[in-house]
Amino acid sequence: MYGCKNGHPFNVAKEGYVNLLLSHQRKSKTPGDDPEMVMARRRFFDSGAYDGLTEAVSRFPMFGKDEVSILDSGCGEGHLLGALSNQYSGFFCGIDISKKAVQVASKRHKKATWLVANGMRDIPIADASMDVILSILAPRNNEEFSRILKPDGALIIGVPGPNHLIELRQQLQFTSGDFKEKADQAAEKCAPQFIETNRESLSFKQTLCKEQIADLIRMTPLFWRSGEEAKASVMELDQLEVTISFTLLTMKRD
Ligand SMILES: C[S@@+](CC[C@H](N)C(=O)[O-])C[C@H]1O[C@@H](n2cnc3c(N)ncnc32)[C@H](O)[C@@H]1O
Repeated sequence: MYGCKNGHPFNVAKEGYVNLLLSHQRKSKTPGDDPEMVMARRRFFDSGAYDGLTEAVSRFPMFGKDEVSILDSGCGEGHLLGALSNQYSGFFCGIDISKKAVQVASKRHKKATWLVANGMRDIPIADASMDVILSILAPRNNEEFSRILKPDGALIIGVPGPNHLIELRQQLQFTSGDFKEKADQAAEKCAPQFIETNRESLSFKQTLCKEQIADLIRMTPLFWRSGEEAKASVMELDQLEVTISFTLLTMKRD
């Protein structure tokens, strides 16, 4: 059992995760990615379509320490942190506000600690205790990241890169959002607490099959933002070649 300084007890669920989210720390009953989004993301990662992202993150030299401590904030279904926990030794902690995401992460990846928590409020991690914080395609809490990170630690931020999924967006009749400014905007927002030390661009083409197209749409906000007709016609495609593009920023504490 876990507890907080105010005396609230928190049980470990049968899958191995702990739900630290109190009702006043969430705006809806089921915050974060819904179960269908989580399972679509799980299938999409399992299909190998984002292996390039997993490999690029896994290559960062700071993971190679004898014992590395990593927090993945907004960890989703746990693919990235799970891969790191299989490759390196140390302490691995994933937090997400979506209970379903943390449930499926903890069911599969037993070497990590998984918590349901609101990463945009007080993050339940001690001061200056983490070597690395990962924030991949997830909301960022720079004040808390700066508190939690060791003085020589690294924050790794992943944002969509230029022309990410441009072909899918065109098919869905989106005209805006080429993501060219995303990395600069992320760096600017971190500026009070962090200095950028490295920027890596990752871009590759991937031909997606019907199931991958459906999962990709379902796991992103494109699902809510697209018109029903455009969505239905894209879902009819047998395959679609898309650009997959991410920018990975490394930041150190200022
Ligand atoms: C686009 S997904 C990315 C998941 C994972 N990082 C990945 O790359 O596969 C964004 C995740 O952030 C989570 N999230 C959104 N708001 C959050 C918050 N306030 N605290 C923690 N997680 C949050 C969502 O539930 C979702 O799992």
